[in-house]
Order: sequence, then C-alpha cells, then structure tokens
Amino acid sequence: MASTNIIKAIMFLLVLSLANNITPCEAQLSSTFYDRSCPKALRTIRTAIRTAISRERRMAASILRLHFHDCFVQGCDASILLDDSPSIISEKNALPNKGSVRGYEVIEAAKAKVEKLCPGVVSCADVLTLAARDASKMVGGPSWSVKLGRRDSTNASLVQAEAGLPSFKAPLDSLISTFGDNGLNVRDMVALSGAHTIGQAQCFLFRDRIYNNGSDINVGFASTRRRGCPLNSGNEKLAALDLVTPNSFDNNYFKNLIQKKGLLESDQVLFSGGSTDSIVREYSNNHSKFKSDFATAMVKMSEIRPLTGQEGVLRKICGALP
Ligand code: HEM
Ligand SMILES: *[C@@H]1O[C@H](CO)[C@@H](O)[C@H](O)[C@H]1NC(C)=O
Ligand SMILES: *[C@@H]1O[C@H](CO)[C@@H](O)[C@H](O)[C@H]1NC(C)=O
Ligand SMILES: *[C@@H]1O[C@H](CO)[C@@H](O)[C@H](O)[C@H]1NC(C)=O
Repeated sequence: MASTNIIKAIMFLLVLSLANNITPCEAQLSSTFYDRSCPKALRTIRTAIRTAISRERRMAASILRLHFHDCFVQGCDASILLDDSPSIISEKNALPNKGSVRGYEVIEAAKAKVEKLCPGVVSCADVLTLAARDASKMVGGPSWSVKLGRRDSTNASLVQAEAGLPSFKAPLDSLISTFGDNGLNVRDMVALSGAHTIGQAQCFLFRDRIYNNGSDINVGFASTRRRGCPLNSGNEKLAALDLVTPNSFDNNYFKNLIQKKGLLESDQVLFSGGSTDSIVREYSNNHSKFKSDFATAMVKMSEIRPLTGQEGVLRKICGALP
C-alpha cells in the first residue's frame, strides 16, 4: 500500500540520518585546537617571530612566502621544511626555492620554543601558519584568526614544488589556473599577490623585464632598476618588490602596477589590459578592502589540503622526520 511505502521511506531516511550522525566526521581544523594541550603555544610563537622580525624586518616577507610555498605543494603540511635525507628529496632544492626561500631557521627556532613548552603537541605546519599571520600583523598588514590542527607530512615533493609553484614569468591565465588548482579564485590570486608589498627579489628574476624596453614598464622605473641590476652580472643583487614602501604592508603594490612599476613580469601582468585590471584598481583605491580580502585569501590558502586527525605525523624538528 501507498501508506506502508511512505512509512518505509520515512524509516529509511531516519536510519540514514542516524548513520550519518554515528559515522565519525573527518577531523577538521579548529580555532581552539591547542587551548587545553598547549595554551601558551600561540603567544610563544608570536614572541619568537617578533624577535626574528625585529632583528631583520625583511624576515616578515620571507615567512609569508615560506608559508605560500608550503601550501601550494601537497597542501599546508610543512613539507617544504624537510631537509634532504635518504628518504627525502627536499623541496628546498626545487628551482623556485633554492637560494631564494628564506626563514627556515626562524620557524625551527619557534618550533623549538613550543617543543620545550609542550613536547610533541604542536605541528610544524601550524607553527608556520601562525608565523605567517603574526608576520603580516607585525609589519602593518592585516591579522586573522587561524584554525589549527594541521599535521606534518611524512614526505616532500621536489617534483611538485617545481610544477606547482607559479613562475615569475607566468602569463595571467597560467597564474589564474595555478591558483585555481589550489581552490583559490581570481580575486584571491590578486589579493595574495599583494604580499609583494613587502620583501625583495633578485636581479636575475627581473633583468629581462627592465632591459627589454617593453611598453608595459615605466621608463624611469626601468632605468632606476638597471642601476642596481647589471645586464651581465649581479644575479643576486636585490631590489624591493614595492619601490615606494618596501618595509610596510600597504596597497602601494597596486598603485605601482597602475604606473607600470611592477618589478616582476608576474606582477605587471595583473595590470596589463586583462581581466584583473579592475581588481588592481579597486585595491589601489581601497586599502581596507585589500587588507580584508588579503586576510580572507590567506585563511583560504592556509587551509589547502591540510593533514588532520591521525594523518601524517608531528615532527619534533621541522627539518627531519620523527
Ligand atoms: C602570483 C604568483 C607569484 C609569483 C610568480 C611569485 C614570485 C616571486 C618571486 C620570483 C620572488 C622573488 C624571489 C627571489 O628573489 O629569490 C618573490 C618574492 C616574494 N613573494 Fe612571491 N610570487 C607570487 C605570489 C606570492 C604570494 C601568493 C605570496 C604570499 C602570500 C608571495 C610572497 C612573496 C614575498 C613576501 C616575497 C619577498 C620574500 C623575501 O623578501 O624574502 N608571493 N615572489
Ligand atoms: C606523500 O604521502 C602522501 C600520504 O601518504 C601520499 O598521498 C603522496 O603520494 C606522497 N607523495 C610523494 C611525492 O611520495
Ligand atoms: C633598451 O634601452 C637601453 C637604453 O635606452 C639600451 O641601452 C638597451 O640596449 C635597450 N635594450 C634592448 C633589449 O633593446
Ligand atoms: C572600501 O571597501 C569597503 C569594504 O572593505 C567598503 O565598505 C567601502 O565602501 C569601500 N570604500 C570605497 C571608497 O570604495
């Protein structure tokens, strides 16, 4: 009869919903993860990061970048921190990282402090995520609340680090797709590129751009930058990514792009007649909108494929497997 069928259907749905409640949910990140197990973890990390940045202000930039290069390769699992060993081919030697990514020792020092406080509790991936948030705040950037409970990888992938990190010569569609692969949309990509409001880049990464006399570069800017970046030497000479306020987190990066004063090709391509021009204009006109979008995008980036629950491990030393 129709009514028994309805009763059967209701019973079926009831059982289904019960089963759903009983099945343990996948472990998730949580903002209170260490509140009981290591209540002083966040404060301890912040102090360590503050010490490093007051010693060298550029370290704020380096740590933000370190976190980005961790998250885009296998997710935010501290894989980038593992050193070479018989079982690990370190991401540190991947092309975008070698001789370029900095700050490993700062994260290791912060981790050593929390390890002393609460042995075997706080992951390297969480230390790095918190450090990036603290670094932004300390140089005038936004702050945000970080969900915790990431675990550390048991491996690293040099191959993925070379394939999955964007190139300084990447055209716009390739930047959009690399970020898209990581669940980040076009606005996230533009906002996150605004991290180039601080920090520095090496001559060999922007030499072609400043010597090519292309039309998408300000002539005065190119000539200034040539003085610090010889055509045939000085590969490692540094220039600020934001020529106006290289040590402060602000929206001058976007104002520079509108004046064709982006340092890297991947910077200028965000404002060169393509689909992201309007976003660059918006951020250049609205500092607070940039800051809040940056914070939102950082949270999204910091939650790329984390290991949680029983996945992965907790490393005692970030550079080595336990
Ligand atoms: C959009 C694609 C991106 C490309 C192609 C790119 C590329 C680069 C390159 C080539 C450098 C200079 C490295 C060197 O001179 O050794 C650099 C520096 C930097 N990048 Fe990016 N980046 C991108 C996105 C990001 C994102 C998403 C962040 C963080 C949220 C970030 C943060 C930084 C910082 C802070 C520096 C300066 C680091 C320092 O001074 O130590 N970048 N980036
Ligand atoms: C690293 O380990 C994860 C989890 O065990 C695995 O899915 C992934 O394929 C491994 N990656 C490499 C490069 O071995
Ligand atoms: C670009 O212009 C400068 C100075 O005007 C000149 O010395 C240089 O050779 C030019 N470079 C190219 C690639 O045309
Ligand atoms: C800037 O963005 C904020 C949102 O963060 C918005 O409320 C405000 O109206 C914008 N200001 C301007 C001048 O567009």
